[in-house]
Amino acid sequence: MIIKTFQTLVSILVFASLPSIANANVIYQDLHLIPQFAKVHGIVMGVAFVIVFPLGSLLIRALRTKGSTWIHATWQLLGWVLMVAGLATGIRLGKIINLLHNNTHTILGTVIVVLMLIQPFIGFVHHRRFLATQQHGTWTHVHVWFGRTLILLGIINGGLGLQLAGNTKAGTIVYGVVAGLVGAACFSMVVFVEARKRNQQVDARETSSETGAEERSKKCTP
Ligand code: HEM
Ligand code: HEM
Repeated sequence: MIIKTFQTLVSILVFASLPSIANANVIYQDLHLIPQFAKVHGIVMGVAFVIVFPLGSLLIRALRTKGSTWIHATWQLLGWVLMVAGLATGIRLGKIINLLHNNTHTILGTVIVVLMLIQPFIGFVHHRRFLATQQHGTWTHVHVWFGRTLILLGIINGGLGLQLAGNTKAGTIVYGVVAGLVGAACFSMVVFVEARKRNQQVDARETSSETGAEERSKKCTP
């Protein structure tokens, strides 16, 4: 009887200690760094994905001047540097509180950041090819659609970060409103740009078929 009670007591104690075993990877001596690191990480990533990258994409469409590519490239590289700083603080945070790659925010965030690291190179290749051919090609479509998708996913991931950190209701609402306004502006720009491209393609097709008909009628004329 006494042995059975002792066994039950031991199993209750082992069970009760499970959470601390699961948190064995938490770096307790660095826990005091969390508030500062979380603030820096959230602000830096939020500014990069919700302000800098979307604004840089709007800029290349709004500024239709010579040199707009370089204004866009420099501006986006600023966001890129912020993003790398955000990645470093995010990894440090994740290691301290054992939240590295065991939740959607850090896994999706890492995928987005890693893919975004190659985005400037794709943009650069597109630009070199465009200068050589004066035509948009595969690299243009990859750069444009890759960029649009990663920015959208980054904005969504910021919301997941706020949830993970248990941010205040006010903070989440401010993020949601700013992200919603920026998202709506970008969506309108994409719809406008794609509609303009389609019209230009239709115009070009009509012009070439008219020119073709003229050429054919000239050839048929004795
Ligand atoms: C992290 C860096 C970058 C990001 C996130 C980025 C993102 C984007 C996005 C989203 C667009 C499409 C805008 C739209 O929605 O219509 C775009 C267009 C463009 N980007 Fe970038 N970009 C980056 C770097 C660069 C670099 C380094 C260059 C060139 C050296 C470049 C050249 C261009 C050009 C020329 C276009 C217009 C393409 C067209 O005519 O359709 N980008 N970029
Ligand atoms: C698209 C990229 C990302 C964005 C926009 C982003 C944004 C955010 C935001 C806004 C927060 C809330 C901060 C707070 O309320 O104090 C947060 C939390 C967090 N992020 Fe990210 N993040 C990104 C990528 C990453 C990556 C790549 C990692 C790590 C590998 C990471 C790790 C974390 C962690 C661990 C927290 C929770 C902090 C806490 O519990 O206090 N994030 N993130």
